[in-house]
Amino acid sequence: MEDMAGCHRWQQKKRGKGSISKSRRHLLLHCLPSIASPTSLSLLPFPPPPPPLTDLLRVVSRRLVLATKTQSITTMATQEEECMGSVKAQLAKIFEASLKVTVPNEPDVEPLIAACTGKFGDYQCNNAMGLWSKIKGKGTQFRGPPAVGEAIKNNLPTSEMIESCSVAGPGFVNVVLSKNWMAKSIQKMLIEGIDTWAPMPPVKTAVVDFSSPNIAKEMHVGHLRSTIIGDTLARMLEFSKVKVLRRNHVGDWGTQFGMLIEFLFEKFPNFEDATETAIGDLQAFYKASKLRFDSDPAFKERAQQAVVRLQGGEEKYRRAWAQICEISRTEFHKVYQRLGVHLEEKGESFYNPYIPGVIEGLMKQGLVEESQGARVIFIEGVNIPLIVVKSDGGFNYASTDLAALWYRLNEEKAEWIIYVTDVGQQQHFDMVFKAAKRAGWLPQGDNSYPRASHVGFGLVLGEDGKRFRTRNTEVVRLVDLLDEAKSRSKAALIERGKGEQWTEEEIESTADAVGYGAVKYADLKNNRLTNYTFNFDQMLNDKGNTAVYLLYAHARICSIIRRSGKDIEELMNKGTLVLEHKDERDLGLHLLQFAEVVEEACTNLLPNVLCDYLYNLSEIFSKFYSNPECKVIGSDKETSRLLLCEATAVVMRKCFNLLGITPIYKI
Ligand code: ARG
Repeated sequence: MEDMAGCHRWQQKKRGKGSISKSRRHLLLHCLPSIASPTSLSLLPFPPPPPPLTDLLRVVSRRLVLATKTQSITTMATQEEECMGSVKAQLAKIFEASLKVTVPNEPDVEPLIAACTGKFGDYQCNNAMGLWSKIKGKGTQFRGPPAVGEAIKNNLPTSEMIESCSVAGPGFVNVVLSKNWMAKSIQKMLIEGIDTWAPMPPVKTAVVDFSSPNIAKEMHVGHLRSTIIGDTLARMLEFSKVKVLRRNHVGDWGTQFGMLIEFLFEKFPNFEDATETAIGDLQAFYKASKLRFDSDPAFKERAQQAVVRLQGGEEKYRRAWAQICEISRTEFHKVYQRLGVHLEEKGESFYNPYIPGVIEGLMKQGLVEESQGARVIFIEGVNIPLIVVKSDGGFNYASTDLAALWYRLNEEKAEWIIYVTDVGQQQHFDMVFKAAKRAGWLPQGDNSYPRASHVGFGLVLGEDGKRFRTRNTEVVRLVDLLDEAKSRSKAALIERGKGEQWTEEEIESTADAVGYGAVKYADLKNNRLTNYTFNFDQMLNDKGNTAVYLLYAHARICSIIRRSGKDIEELMNKGTLVLEHKDERDLGLHLLQFAEVVEEACTNLLPNVLCDYLYNLSEIFSKFYSNPECKVIGSDKETSRLLLCEATAVVMRKCFNLLGITPIYKI
């Protein structure tokens, strides 16, 4: 039922209940005390001032306008509203109208709509039982849940969506959708585009903090997972018309830079010449400098001095730091380029100037306490405190994350901030979010906005069931891993004789799409919280739930359309889609469910929900296509069935697009 609640909240945007403005006002009001004037702590540039009061008033008055509008909404959903959102959302509107008439004394009952698993309908409304327990004994005419269900059914406004309704068991209202309406809706999507099926989350701006490797350290499979999952989440939000700030929160600040800079000076007296080729492997460089740091006290001393000089802004040290960052960046970029992932870097160093002011604000609110020489925030229910200033006066990972959260909420006006890291960091984020709630930066409830969410994921395992590593080296170079996926898929294409039939360019681009797509899909199809085993043979198999199978399935549909020799654009506008046969109707229903599935995947930040949908879609399509009764080319239903093929291809392509996978059109 969780997703239903989410679904209902998301509709509020369209109905104008103003969930954003409410939370925005909350944010502004509560941020005011935390952003006082510059203080003794803030030796560095202070964060810019909070939004002026006029903004606040504008927001409050907008909320008032919205509130007035809401009151004028009648019990009948308007024609325009009825056509918006997923099937589930549209049914919810119709049922909401019925509920208002059925139980006029129970205001704001949220319609509970779910897709049916049984054979009595396509969807069901599950409100009767819950309502009965609320109204029992209040002197209504009802005598139990079935009667409530019966009344909900009878009070439904007429709608062309619904063919028939029936009440089952303790008041479940089953709905059979009208085939005509279904066919019309699919054809409408074909004409107007799949964007009309996009979710409508109640936020304008979101931050997705993902990938985020550390400079000079290994970019490992965990960062690969974060990159793949984060990109998908960003794509789903972008599809939903949310402005997404794709943030690469790289670890580019901290004491290790003193050591790296000093080592750089030592190895390269003309350090500016120390390019990537000269240094070679930056990870090896890191290890060597660490060894030096641990074994030579004089070096250690110099390294510690170097941190001070770097943080004091000394030119030479800043330049050396920038150079080390740049070399790492080139390395990271190779991975992003292969995956086609776009990110904007705002590393830890970016937030450094904001830390003192933010902590000062928290201190003024009385949230920061002294503990063993450090400054900490105690969090209810957690036995260790969140350290915000270390005992040596320095800042840490948590101080940076607090400043970054402050910045994202107040400067970037993000309403949803999503962090994608391994589950190991869950407690860290839990504490940061709770501290932000104590400070009033975030509302108390987890379901209101602005919202911060941690998207955790499990480990990548090797065949041996242990943490994934390659044969001889300790770590896996991600670029090598991706290159291997590509070369294996290229070899498979050659083996299938494509070397003779296709151009070199076609082979290359198909191998890219299949190879990288396979790596991404293998990661995304599992619930992200579980560990998964990295296995090339499995992910590159052309049977089963793999990207290869799905990409081929899509290419096959495209070839059916090509073989028909028909102009699909023309059919869309002049022909008619009908859903007569059971297999056609099943396929149509699944296509229509795309909107609510993306919404669920997006609300709960679960890409695997979309993968399941995509896999089922190709299975349901196969059932339709392989049924001799549903012959496509040359049958008297050719036009309609070609349109159904096209709709399937369009939806599959959108799924691929959201998963960051490039579709292929021929095999
Ligand atoms: N650099 C960190 C790591 O490699 C991930 C950063 C995640 N984002 C954040 N805002 N803390 O573990």
